[in-house]
Amino acid sequence: MLLPLLLLPWAWGALAASPPVPTVSVTLRVLHIEVFHNASSMDMWGMALLGDLETHSLACSTCEIRFLQPWARQSLTPKEWQDLELVIHRSLSYFSRIVTRIVQQLGKSYPFVTQGSLGCELHPNGTSRRFYDGGVNGEDFISLDVDAGKWVARQGDNVSARYTRDLLNQDKGTVSQLQLLLSMTCVKLNKSFVQHGNESLARQERPVAVVFARAPPPAGPPAPVLLVCRVTGFYPRPIRVAWLQDGEEVVPGGRLNSSGILPNADLTYQLRSSLAVEPGAGHSYACRVQHSSLGGQSLLIPWEQSRPWGPGLAVGITLGVVAVAAVAVVLWRSRRRGYQDVRPGESRP
Ligand SMILES: *[C@@H]1O[C@H](CO)[C@@H](O)[C@H](O)[C@H]1NC(C)=O
Ligand SMILES: *[C@@H]1O[C@H](CO)[C@@H](O)[C@H](O)[C@H]1NC(C)=O
Ligand SMILES: *[C@@H]1O[C@H](CO)[C@@H](O)[C@H](O)[C@H]1NC(C)=O
Ligand SMILES: *[C@@H]1O[C@H](CO)[C@@H](O)[C@H](O)[C@H]1NC(C)=O
Ligand SMILES: *[C@@H]1O[C@H](CO)[C@@H](O)[C@H](O)[C@H]1NC(C)=O
Ligand SMILES: *[C@@H]1O[C@H](CO)[C@@H](O)[C@H](O)[C@H]1NC(C)=O
Repeated sequence: MLLPLLLLPWAWGALAASPPVPTVSVTLRVLHIEVFHNASSMDMWGMALLGDLETHSLACSTCEIRFLQPWARQSLTPKEWQDLELVIHRSLSYFSRIVTRIVQQLGKSYPFVTQGSLGCELHPNGTSRRFYDGGVNGEDFISLDVDAGKWVARQGDNVSARYTRDLLNQDKGTVSQLQLLLSMTCVKLNKSFVQHGNESLARQERPVAVVFARAPPPAGPPAPVLLVCRVTGFYPRPIRVAWLQDGEEVVPGGRLNSSGILPNADLTYQLRSSLAVEPGAGHSYACRVQHSSLGGQSLLIPWEQSRPWGPGLAVGITLGVVAVAAVAVVLWRSRRRGYQDVRPGESRP
């Protein structure tokens, strides 16, 4: 459990002048994953994340730290990074000794995976939350209650978790070392790390949105048509996607469905929102996207009903920005000319 020493880069070094307090919560998180193949063989990966930005990685064939952001090297000197790699080596063997002991004592079998997530979350109101959560095979196992200085079992009735908790709680030295490191991480994060990463985290990438329809199956009873709004390429993560029926926002309910926000490979996000509609009911529909990159305005992508149904019929690849006021324009024009003529603010890439 010495792996938290991975946090050292943020606990060391001179502190920069006091930066502005962040306006949203910022989390620095170290993840470590170990695969225990058998009593003598394990693999380990680690990574550090500032918000959703991967800053460092580590694969323990060599246990060499990789720097994934231009500024990620700055917090330590080359010598300090080398020392840190040594510490990680030692922590790993400590960790695998503990795990091997638990496996022997409880008569458990290989293989299995352990996962750890530790770090600090800094809130705009000046408070912070320090955490260390451990999982086994994807399930919550134990957590450190950092303020109380005690490990707690996440599944209270699980014999393995209770045994591990008791074993770790005997090691008061490691617990107080962890408390100290997590606290220093918070201080370091507050004072300097946010500054280095601020530009990457403040990045604004505009969403690209497409509306298309999924036809009901040709055979079988009449079914509603599914309008799909696919929104992708946006950053940061928070976004609001709504459907408008005749200009009125459709309230949440059975007709709406959403994929939730999913990551893309290039550190942007995507989301799909669908709306079930009765064909031929004479309503007009549009998908409205609100995101911080749009400078207080909205994207509005109308569904063009005159087109035949069919998957993949993109009717509005809309990169342009449309003022919220455009909703009014759409309504006004659709009454005069029919909805399908209207592509407010559209500008194709
Ligand atoms: C342990 O697992 C490794 C990797 O799967 C394998 O190469 C090795 O032979 C195993 N050792 C024993 C003693 O089973
Ligand atoms: C500070 O903000 C966090 C997250 O928004 C919240 O959980 C916490 O209760 C707040 N603390 C105080 C003292 O306002
Ligand atoms: C972060 O720093 C500001 C002043 O720079 C301070 O007011 C705030 O309490 C600090 N927050 C934490 C969690 O240390
Ligand atoms: C205890 O937790 C471990 C790890 O999640 C799991 O493999 C095991 O099945 C659990 N035991 C019981 C009795 O729930
Ligand atoms: C990021 O932090 C640096 C260093 O403090 C500062 O010069 C810069 O203005 C900050 N950028 C943003 C977007 O806040
Ligand atoms: C919502 O969509 C998911 C797949 O994207 C699907 O599995 C689920 O059944 C849908 N729910 C409803 C109520 O249509």
